[in-house]
Order: sequence, then structure tokens, then C-alpha cells
Amino acid sequence: MFLYIVGLITIALVVFRILEEIYKSLQSFPNIQAKYGKDCWAVVTGATDGIGKGYCQVLAQQNVNICMIIRNEEKAKQLIQELSKGSTSKFKIVVANFNNSLEEGFFDKIYKQIESLDIGLLINNVGVSHQAPLEKYNDNQLREIITVNCFPIVFLTKKIIANMLQRKKSAIINLSSFTGRVPMPYNQTYAASKAFDDYFSRSIALEYPNIDILAHRPMYVTTPMTNFQQGQGAISPFQAAKGALQRLGLEYSTHGHIFHRVQGFFGAVIVPEFIRNKILKQEMRKLVKKHL
Ligand SMILES: NC(=O)c1ccc[n+]([C@@H]2O[C@H](COP(=O)([O-])OP(=O)(O)OC[C@H]3O[C@@H](n4cnc5c(N)ncnc54)[C@H](OP(=O)(O)O)[C@@H]3O)[C@@H](O)[C@H]2O)c1
Repeated sequence: MFLYIVGLITIALVVFRILEEIYKSLQSFPNIQAKYGKDCWAVVTGATDGIGKGYCQVLAQQNVNICMIIRNEEKAKQLIQELSKGSTSKFKIVVANFNNSLEEGFFDKIYKQIESLDIGLLINNVGVSHQAPLEKYNDNQLREIITVNCFPIVFLTKKIIANMLQRKKSAIINLSSFTGRVPMPYNQTYAASKAFDDYFSRSIALEYPNIDILAHRPMYVTTPMTNFQQGQGAISPFQAAKGALQRLGLEYSTHGHIFHRVQGFFGAVIVPEFIRNKILKQEMRKLVKKHL
């Protein structure tokens, strides 16, 4: 009898999870201005390339105003020219190198330049990655990963969230990664920083239920960071951004695009841990072979 009841409860939970997933997947892509305020601004860090650029492309299609916090002004100006074609979005550039996040007043200086904007959406995207066996890194690489991947997400959110609390509805997307969910040999510091981003994001999501806060944990995306090409199991930055924006307000943490959700489910839940660890180690050893 006991086993029968446990079996029934397990089946009911699985059916519930499947129905929940179908419900979320059937939600239409949100109209950002309708949801987060007409003429509101989206602030995107690391917007000039990769996934950050993908977010800007999706947002510009919806004529959302975009403030880019970037380190390369020329690259941002070129991107704005590109995005302006067929879009009525307004653009603003704030130049900042997040490697300097530890400097006194660094985030105050950024915030002064954006405090007058009606910020409806913050996308903490900036991130860097280096791979090597731990003892082979130089200290600056490790410092860069921790500084760029962890500090902006905390301090920019802290600065901006105070104003968001005065608004009817706002949203924050924090870029984590699949490696924030499973340990990654030879990419240990990056993986730990992405776990930090995921936990920080999910924790503040509980603190501020009125703000849609989402940790985006992509698998491989075709960006300069990965050098992956489409068709090698990777999706485009545009697809990654669209996939995450579609889940905004529906959950706290997501792999985003359907392709990544399926990959993430198999990679993190279905495949036994010892097999996953073996595959990851083999793949990562190929990537870092010059250090071995
Ligand atoms: N690509 C993936 O498969 C993948 C998977 C999971 C998670 N992610 C996460 O997604 C985010 C974006 O990754 P990505 O692949 O798009 O990276 P990317 O292609 O290397 O682009 C990173 C962006 O951040 C900017 N940036 C880097 N360091 C900076 C600094 N110190 N100060 C200011 N801006 C800086 C770069 O500026 P420049 O244009 O000037 O170089 C670029 O615009 C990261 O948080 C990453 O951890 C990526």
C-alpha cells in the first residue's frame, strides 16, 4: 500500500512538471513595453558582442530603448548604427571596464549616468572565461573572472533595484550558465562564478517578488567567448536572448531556448553524474591540452 501511494505521488509530480513545462512553453513572446512600461529603458552590460548583442537585437526589434554599458565605444557606435535600421529605439552608451569594478566609486560613476532613465529591464550579461588547470592560470586571469562575473551583477542590481521598486513592473536577467549547475573541470573558477550568479539571482527573486528576476543559464552559444559555430550543438546569441526573454516572469532560473532546455535536462538530470563528469573532463582536456 505504502509503495502504491509513493508511486502515485511520483507519477502525479511528474505529470504536474510536464504540464507546467507545456504551459510555460505555450506562453507567447512578451511585449516588453507593454509588460515593463512604455518607452522604458533596458540596460545591457557587455552589449557589444555575443549574447549581450543578441539581447540588444531582440529588444531593438521591439523598439525598446537601450543603454549599453560597454568598454569599446567605437564597437557600440557601430552596433547602434546596425540596430537603428528599422527600429525606433533610443540608445545611450556608458563606457566602463568592469575589470575595474573593485575601484572605489566605480558603480556610483556608472549609476550617475543612468539614474535619470526609466529603467524597466536590467540585463547583467557581461562575463569572461579562461580555461586551464588551476595551477596554470596567471593570477590576473583568475582575478578578472571573479571581478567581471561577480561584482557587476551585485552592485549594478543594488543600485538599480531601488528605483525599480518604485515602478509598477520591472525585470532583471542575470547571465549564469549551464556550468553554474554542474561542476566544470579546467573551467573551475568560471563555473563557480556562474553558480554565484545563479544563486544570487534566485535569492533576490525571492526577496523581490514584484520584479521578474531570472537567471539565464545557456548551454553553448556561438559567440567570441566559445568560438563555436552554429550546427555544433550551439545556438545563435539572438536565439539565446529570445529564449530567455520568453521565460521572463515564468520562473527564476532557465536554460532559455528550447534546445538548451532539452540539452540541460539530459545533461544535468538524466545522464548519470559519473558519465557526465567523464565526458566533460574529456572535452575540456581537449580545450586546455596546451597546458597539460
Ligand atoms: N557563449 C556561451 O556559450 C555562454 C554560455 C553560458 C553563459 N554565457 C554567459 O553569457 C554572458 C555573455 O557571454 P558571451 O559568450 O556573449 O561573451 P563574449 O562573446 O565574450 O562577449 C562578452 C561581452 O562582454 C564585454 N566585456 C568583456 N569584458 C568586459 C569588461 N571587462 N568590461 C566591459 N565589457 C566587457 C565584451 O566587450 P568587447 O566587445 O569589447 O569584447 C562583449 O561585449 C557571459 O556572462 C557568459 O558567462 C555564455
